[in-house]
Amino acid sequence: MKTHQEKYAELERLRSRAQAPTGEDAIAKQHARGKRTARERIDRLVDEGSFTELDRFAVHRTSAFGLDEREFLGDGVVTGRATIDGRQVFLFSQDFTVLGGSLGEVFAEKICKVMDLAVRTGSPMIGINDSGGARIQEGVVSLGGYAEIFWRNVQASGVVPQLSLIAGPCAGGAVYSPAITNFVLMTEAISQMFITGPEIIKTVTGEDVTFEQLGGATTHASKSGVAHLVGADEDELCELTQTLFSYIPQNNLEDPPRFACDDDPQRVSPQLDEVVPDSPNKPYDMHAVLEEVLDYGDFFEIQPLYAPNILIGFGRVAGRSVGIVANQPSILAGVLDIKSSIKAARFVRFCDAFNIPLVTFVDVPGFLPGTDQEYGGIIVHGAKLLYAYAEATVPKITIITRKAYGGAYDVMASKHIRADVNLAWPTAEIAVMGAEGAVKTIFRREIAAAADKDAKMKELIDDYTERFANPYIAAQRGYVDDVIEAHRTRGAIAGALAMLENKRVERPKRKHGNIPL
Ligand code: HXC
Repeated sequence: MKTHQEKYAELERLRSRAQAPTGEDAIAKQHARGKRTARERIDRLVDEGSFTELDRFAVHRTSAFGLDEREFLGDGVVTGRATIDGRQVFLFSQDFTVLGGSLGEVFAEKICKVMDLAVRTGSPMIGINDSGGARIQEGVVSLGGYAEIFWRNVQASGVVPQLSLIAGPCAGGAVYSPAITNFVLMTEAISQMFITGPEIIKTVTGEDVTFEQLGGATTHASKSGVAHLVGADEDELCELTQTLFSYIPQNNLEDPPRFACDDDPQRVSPQLDEVVPDSPNKPYDMHAVLEEVLDYGDFFEIQPLYAPNILIGFGRVAGRSVGIVANQPSILAGVLDIKSSIKAARFVRFCDAFNIPLVTFVDVPGFLPGTDQEYGGIIVHGAKLLYAYAEATVPKITIITRKAYGGAYDVMASKHIRADVNLAWPTAEIAVMGAEGAVKTIFRREIAAAADKDAKMKELIDDYTERFANPYIAAQRGYVDDVIEAHRTRGAIAGALAMLENKRVERPKRKHGNIPL
């Protein structure tokens, strides 16, 4: 019979084996790939000493393909809870040194256990992905395990924030868990996501493409929009995650963390009065506006490289988190198109699900015309943004800096779709369309009949601009609550947020709406 000391020594031995289930060589190989180990990643991400592990002794139950001869404590994934800036999170971190981080039955069970705990305790869930996908030796059981995770991702959606950090391969159906989570963060050079790899693509379509071109961080940050944030390396990946957490609550029943703020909420910004150029067709950078209005000029931009004609991201006003949506006049004149509508709609829904007030800056000439857009379904995609704003019940504050034309005026958090506070700068132009388009449409015959067509056009445009390209017609009807000098914008937002702090909206009972997907 084992003595007490021997039993304690056995525990130590097993713990030590679980730390490096495939040995030090495998860890060295992981480092040689330029990657951290699953445990190192958790240590870097969470508060020092805060990680409590679960299921470190779990092992697979498979005998196929000689796996009965091989046992890996923990079964290739490290799971547990920790804190980030003192706030509880649940995590899993896939261990590539164990069968390439491939997912089998027990691996999936471990992940499901922490996901269930995250929902039960109202804590965010972070998945660190580095895996060759379904564990081939476990066959369909592995597919079942994935689906159990997907199901939980869906149940947790809108209940606790879910983040996916991609720190290696994430291929095949494995990509669908990250896709359902709220934010996907990738690391340059070491992470790839794709449904089918380069070899299959070559066979099926004849295309030649590298892993990096197909599913690297740059691709997903700029072309597909799958990645919300990209870290230059694993350190930056962790920093981005920590910053992101500082803006969001633990769950749907909490408000986001509120920080003490010594940046005066009433601070005036005289330079904002000069931001909008006199010519309506001249661009300016909306970042300059956001950086003046937000606490300390901090705008934490999400998806900066994807559909940059709209800006989304987080900031704070008087220490309160806000979600920013802003047309970007310096890119495609800030037009709404398919990609920008989808990008902003998903962000609006995230903010609404997690009690983050929305502040919208509007300078939009309308929806992008063209067959590309129409054939691509701009009708339904644009409607996503409209739907998301109309559905959102968080405080909604809208500032029209310049153009608010046509359908895009309605969509961009207008009063009519229940924004709470709508403000316009004196430079705002709220109308059905720009002067030139309007004049050409309604005075076609007069222009054709004029001896000097250009002079007639100019006269009509000047007249239209004088009468309609301003904020006062909308203000007369209460569509905007006030017209304010640009320099007072920060104070106006701070006041509106305080006023709306206890906003309550009852919605009719229904199973769920049907957003035009
Ligand atoms: C079992 C796997 C594995 C897998 C890798 N390994 N993928 N074991 N199941 N899916 C093992 C390898 O055999 C190897 O074991 C070790 O992990 C490291 O793999 P390497 O190939 O040496 O590493 P590397 O060169 O870095 O290449 C990584 C890789 C490659 C790109 C991920 O391993 C690969 O292409 N794997 C197969 C990917 C795949 O087709 N997965 C199934 C996708 S379908 P040893 O013992 O030699 O160290 C899928 C469906 C999910 O996932 C559906 C969900 C609904």
